[in-house]
Amino acid sequence: MTVVGPFGLRVRDQALEAEVQTGLAAVEAGLLEATKSDVPFITEAAQHLVRAGGKRFRPLLVMLASQFGDSDAPGVVPSAVVVELTHLATLYHDDVMDEAEVRRGVDSANARWGNSVALLTGDFLFARASHILSDLGPEAVRIQAEAFERLVTGQILETVGPREGREPVDHYMDVLSGKTGSLMAVSGRFGALMSGADERTVDVLTQYGERLGVAFQLADDVLDIASDSHESGKTPGTDLREGIATLPVLLLRAQAAADGKPDDLELVELLDGDLADDARLAEALRRLRVHPALEQARRDTIRYAEEARAALHPLLDCYAKSALAELCDLVVHRAG
Ligand code: IPE
Ligand code: IPE
Ligand code: MG
Ligand code: MG
Repeated sequence: MTVVGPFGLRVRDQALEAEVQTGLAAVEAGLLEATKSDVPFITEAAQHLVRAGGKRFRPLLVMLASQFGDSDAPGVVPSAVVVELTHLATLYHDDVMDEAEVRRGVDSANARWGNSVALLTGDFLFARASHILSDLGPEAVRIQAEAFERLVTGQILETVGPREGREPVDHYMDVLSGKTGSLMAVSGRFGALMSGADERTVDVLTQYGERLGVAFQLADDVLDIASDSHESGKTPGTDLREGIATLPVLLLRAQAAADGKPDDLELVELLDGDLADDARLAEALRRLRVHPALEQARRDTIRYAEEARAALHPLLDCYAKSALAELCDLVVHRAG
C-alpha cells in the first residue's frame, strides 16, 4: 500500500496506484508544457507556482473519477491539466484580491512582481487552459465555461457580501459552492466523462465533487485560523485581515449576538477593528483558536464531507470508490 497524491491517501490496489501515479506524472509534464511561452519572463511567472508545489487535488479527483470508465482514454490527462491550470489561474488572481504575500510556501506572484503581472499571468493561464479545452470538444468547453462563471460569481459574492435579507451563513454557503464546489464538480465530471463512464456515473461524480469541494473550502477556512504557515504554505489569518466572514467568525458573531457574553463581544470588536496591525491579528487568532465556534465549524465541515461520501452510494464497490470515500476524511483532517 503506497501513498498516492496529497494528504497521505492510501490506495489498496497496486494497479489503481500505478494508474493514478502515471496519470499524475503525465499531468505534471502537461502543466510544464502548458506554461511555456516564447517570452522567458512569462514562462518564469507562469511556472512560479507550478514549481512551488501544491496538492494537485483536482487532478487526483479527475484520475480517480476516470477509473469508472477507460482511464487511459485520451481526454483524461488533458482535462486534469485544464482543471489544475484553471485552479492555478484563480490562485494568481485570488492572491491579488486577498493581498496575500505567500502561496505554496513561496512569494505570491503579486508579492514578487506586482498586481499587474499576477493578474495577467492568471489570464495567460486561463488562455492556455482554454486552448487545451478546445481539443476536448464543445461539451467540455461548455461545462468549463459554466463552472468558471459560477467560480467567478462566488468570488464576487464574497467580495460584495450578502444582499439585503440574505442570511449570512446562507450567503457564505453560496460563496463556497460557487468559488470551490464548481471546479471540484468539474474535476469529478471530466474524469468520468472523458473516460466514457455512463451518464448516471458522471452525475454521481459531479455531485460528489461539488460536495467535496464545499467541505474542502470549509476546511480551508478553518485552517486559515487553525494552521501555521509551515503546514499551509499560506499566511494564517488572511481571511480575518481581509474582513472575509468565514464560518467560524459567522458562528462566533451569532453566539455573541444571542448570549452577549463579554468575552465574545470583545472578540467580535477585535475582529471588526484594524487587523492590519500584526499584534491585533495575532491576538484575534489566538482567541479564535480556542473558541467553541471553531470546533463547531469543524463539526459542520465533517457533516458536509459526509454528504460527499453519501453521494458515492450508487456506485459499485471498487478500490477507486474506497479511495474517493477516504478523501472525505482526509480533506477535513488535513493540515494544509
Ligand atoms: C486553495 O486550494 C484554494 C481553495 C479553494 C481553498 P488548494 O488548497 O487546493 O491549493 P493548492 O493547489 O494545494 O496550492
Ligand atoms: C479562494 O479561496 C478560492 C479560489 C481561489 C477560487 P481562499 O481565498 O480561501 O483561498 P486561499 O486560502 O487563499 O488559498
Ligand atoms: Mg485567498
Ligand atoms: Mg483560504
